[in-house]
Amino acid sequence: MISIYQADIGHCRGCFACWKKTPGQCVIRDDMTELTRKYITADLILWSFPLYYFGMPSKMKAFLDRLLPTNLPFMTVNEDGASTHPSRYDLSHQRHVLISTCGFYATENNYDALLKQFEIIFGQGLARIICPEGELLRVPQLAFRVAEYLSSVRKAGEEFALHGSFSGKTKARLSQLLYPPETFMEMANASWGIAEPAHSSLQSDQAYNFMRQMAAIYNPSGYVKDIVLEMYFTDLDRTYQLLLGKERCIVKTGDFTRYTTRIETSFELWKQISEGKVGGAEAMMKKRYRVLGDFATMLKMDEYFGSKSAAVNLKQDREPSKSNMSVLLLQWIILWVLLPLAPAWGGAAGIVSCTLVPLLRYRFQLTVYDTISGVLVSALGLAALFSVDETLLICLSYLLFGVLWLFSCIRKIPLTADYSKNSYGGDQAFSNPLFLKTNRILTLAWGVLYLLLAGGSYFLLRSSVASYTGLINSVAPALLGVFTAWFSKWYPAKVARG
Ligand SMILES: Cc1cc2nc3c(=O)[nH]c(=O)nc-3n(C[C@H](O)[C@H](O)[C@H](O)COP(=O)(O)O)c2cc1C
Repeated sequence: MISIYQADIGHCRGCFACWKKTPGQCVIRDDMTELTRKYITADLILWSFPLYYFGMPSKMKAFLDRLLPTNLPFMTVNEDGASTHPSRYDLSHQRHVLISTCGFYATENNYDALLKQFEIIFGQGLARIICPEGELLRVPQLAFRVAEYLSSVRKAGEEFALHGSFSGKTKARLSQLLYPPETFMEMANASWGIAEPAHSSLQSDQAYNFMRQMAAIYNPSGYVKDIVLEMYFTDLDRTYQLLLGKERCIVKTGDFTRYTTRIETSFELWKQISEGKVGGAEAMMKKRYRVLGDFATMLKMDEYFGSKSAAVNLKQDREPSKSNMSVLLLQWIILWVLLPLAPAWGGAAGIVSCTLVPLLRYRFQLTVYDTISGVLVSALGLAALFSVDETLLICLSYLLFGVLWLFSCIRKIPLTADYSKNSYGGDQAFSNPLFLKTNRILTLAWGVLYLLLAGGSYFLLRSSVASYTGLINSVAPALLGVFTAWFSKWYPAKVARG
């Protein structure tokens, strides 16, 4: 790796001494003596520099000019009719890759001159990785999209090492912009920390520029209704509003409307959260900031403003499959419905439903609870086939089901979290302590309910109202279901209010 920027490389004097007096040797004594030697002995050269004024930075040009000693003075004519100086050395095996970033989003009318120059010097076979919107590579909030892009660059490297070229698929990925042009332009304009002339009174208002950046990456695809997100920065004693609309997000600095959701935080903390240096949910649990009004907005923050949100959607090879609680419940429900009607058939149906579970892995992500349920329901089904008393089996099934939920409470991820994560950004929800705590409480409640149902069923099935057992055992979970829906919203909102 050679840093041209740091190397001592003087400008070519155009004396042609390297052609006449000391063939192949430059009269200037600097780092080029060693660099030229390295250049002519290299098999592969990766050129990497940003685009400056539609071309290469001047130091890079100085380096290229100083390669004149590697050419012979005679003029020849190429196959394509262009005149050239032949190389002093046989560099026909040498290959070149150009890696470059630039500030604008377009390559057209931007890279044309540089690419033509490189093609003339190094031939048509030049491989290239051009990354427009290069300024975004160092924005912490966009780390997700940058990591995605850089993984494509790594893939390109692998392919080049193996096959000497990039595959069509990798080329297509690399040619996708980091962000759509409109979003990028708003972000880039806001990133200078200088307000546009129309807002000159906000010239050095860091928080205002930050709000503009948030507005720029707003993803309206999550829009359901107009939302007024009010931000009160406690350390600056300033308020801003973001109007999350159907098509775009607008920043307001005055003339406020009634907020939907208000966040009270220090500006520093909010910046750290958005840069991923501090976990938002954790900071909320530690009461480092408050949320007032509709908490639902917070649950969708990632969808609205996450670095994934505004990214140009890369077509995934395959959508990752999701867990589904029906896979878990169905096995048990079949058993509960059929066992009282016809124990042997119920047992057999239970076993069949469990054997189908492994097949469902092609459609759903199976959790450890789906698998454990398969084993338990099969065992109960088998017992039914062997004519074990069905009252005992029904009670035992509720007991085992309850124990399964309670057992999951002592694990890092409680049972409901493994399923509800799908609505909260997938596995990343597991790093949210508030999400885990809410689910742990709910899982505990469900576990206790099923233990109660086990005990209750034992007495009900032996009483005069035995025929109502099924009804009671359905009503109780339905009521807890209503509670779950309410609690999963109420509890995080209560913590957020501080
Ligand atoms: C002197 C100068 C000239 C530039 N000219 C162009 C240009 O012609 N086209 C462009 O898209 N970006 C241009 N840029 C932006 C840079 O290519 C961009 O900032 C790039 O990300 C810098 O790379 P770096 O972060 O590795 O330094 C220019 C930047 C400078 C400093």
